[in-house]
Amino acid sequence: MSDEKLIIRCRENGPLVLPAKFQIVDHLGNAFLLPEGKENVALCRCGASKNKPFCDGSHKAYSFQAAETAPAPPPAS
Ligand code: FES
Repeated sequence: MSDEKLIIRCRENGPLVLPAKFQIVDHLGNAFLLPEGKENVALCRCGASKNKPFCDGSHKAYSFQAAETAPAPPPAS
């Protein structure tokens, strides 16, 4: 396994986007098929997608608001 950290990007007012190098399973442990040929996958965080856990773009019609930014790192001591 790579030591490289997985980066999940929070899109402004949109989904969580991450490289398509993972497996996502339902509550029974069954795997969802990831979209083929895509470098990245968008996961819904607005709750409006009709294709959960994936984003289907519904966040735009839903006017989903999520533009939080990460807190500043603590000052070095
Ligand atoms: S974040 Fe895109 S449909 Fe929910």
